Amino acid sequence: MARATTAGAAPGESLRTHLRAATMAAHDLLDHAMQAASGWQTRDDYARFLSLQHAARAPLESWLAAHAPAGLVPPPQTGLIAQDLGQLGLAVPPPAQLFTIGRPGPGAALGIAWVLAGSALGNKAIAKQVARIGSGAWPTAFLGDDRAMAFWQDLRARIERPAAAAEAEGATHAAEAVFAHFLGVAEAPESVPA
Ligand code: HEM
Repeated sequence: MARATTAGAAPGESLRTHLRAATMAAHDLLDHAMQAASGWQTRDDYARFLSLQHAARAPLESWLAAHAPAGLVPPPQTGLIAQDLGQLGLAVPPPAQLFTIGRPGPGAALGIAWVLAGSALGNKAIAKQVARIGSGAWPTAFLGDDRAMAFWQDLRARIERPAAAAEAEGATHAAEAVFAHFLGVAEAPESVPA
């Protein structure tokens, strides 16, 4: 049986399955790093979590706005994060380092859109915890964003099928770059003011 390389999908494998497998370790690492950098156990932790999310997402949203075709631009969420931060009495942090992957090839926008859209699944789980811990009093415009979930459902049709080799490879590299970008922000939380 043919084996997939890190970037190349096995024959017949859906793009989603391939992307998930290729980035599973990076996702686990990021999950742990974000819990260590902020978590969401207290109101201050949650505010810090939102600041990290804003700092990391702002450059990614800029990249997508500049490079991605219309159907691959997830609804921007930094405005919702800013709204939540405002309700917690905090200012919006400066964006993290620029996000760049050089000259975008086939699959790049799709890979980046998948990571941001897929994160709505994790956000849904986190929203439940935040509602419980904060007794429903903490703002969750970002975590409970219905438009992000709707975009995710639409994107599924596009990724739950095999992709051409070049597209799968480009999407994988781009998705890995997004996880690395997020990890960079989570591992340098001092760069994001609390
Ligand atoms: C902060 C801690 C995080 C937690 C606790 C978390 C949790 C989760 C959970 C529960 C799922 C759903 C797994 C499933 O149903 O199979 C998921 C999927 C995913 N998350 Fe996260 N996540 C976190 C952070 C992130 C971040 C920051 C990103 C993006 C930069 C991200 C991107 C994704 C992607 C792409 C998927 C998979 C989508 C798919 O199934 O195709 N996650 N996450």
